[in-house]
Amino acid sequence: MNPALAPLFARRSIRQYQAKPVPDPVIQDVIEAAMAAPSANAKDPWEIIVVRKPETLAQIAAGLPYGKMLGHAPVGFVVCGNLQRVNGQHLSYLLQDCSACIENLLLALSMLGLGGVWLGVHPREDRIAHLKQLFHLPEEIIPIGVISAGYPAETPPPRTRFNAAHLHHEQW
Ligand SMILES: Cc1cc2nc3c(=O)[nH]c(=O)nc-3n(C[C@H](O)[C@H](O)[C@H](O)COP(=O)(O)O)c2cc1C
Repeated sequence: MNPALAPLFARRSIRQYQAKPVPDPVIQDVIEAAMAAPSANAKDPWEIIVVRKPETLAQIAAGLPYGKMLGHAPVGFVVCGNLQRVNGQHLSYLLQDCSACIENLLLALSMLGLGGVWLGVHPREDRIAHLKQLFHLPEEIIPIGVISAGYPAETPPPRTRFNAAHLHHEQW
């Protein structure tokens, strides 16, 4: 691991949190980092709902089979894509842009001493429907993923998952 890339390798999924609130300026920094992600034709199709109310976090978690930790997190981010504001109205660009946004958000959390985990929503129809109903989302707003976040109460070590078998030079 190149030490210059240490912040990237230090990002791990964090599923346990301290009971410590996350200050508003920190949330703002994280959102700015998320919205700095690459985006096809710079359409920036993401829409992010920041959730702090414990009852709302519990309601989101109820529809995410592998997202129960969100019910114990101080903050959650629901990352959606706007089909009216994406390159060529292509769902694929929306998914790619929002995934880049989520990764930026996770890296920013980690670099600021917090931690989070990406909870998959798209393409699971039941999870999409759950979030659409819970937040009364307009037709063109597609929930892509939820990030459960807070100050870490676990410290998984940095790691590389480099696998030479998945690397190809010049040809397949
Ligand atoms: C699209 C996507 C969906 C995921 N969904 C979940 C999830 O529902 N629950 C969960 O605990 N982790 C989820 N993860 C996190 C992965 O389990 C995790 O990133 C992977 O095991 C690698 O570990 P690391 O993040 O610590 O490097 C998801 C990750 C991605 C990219």
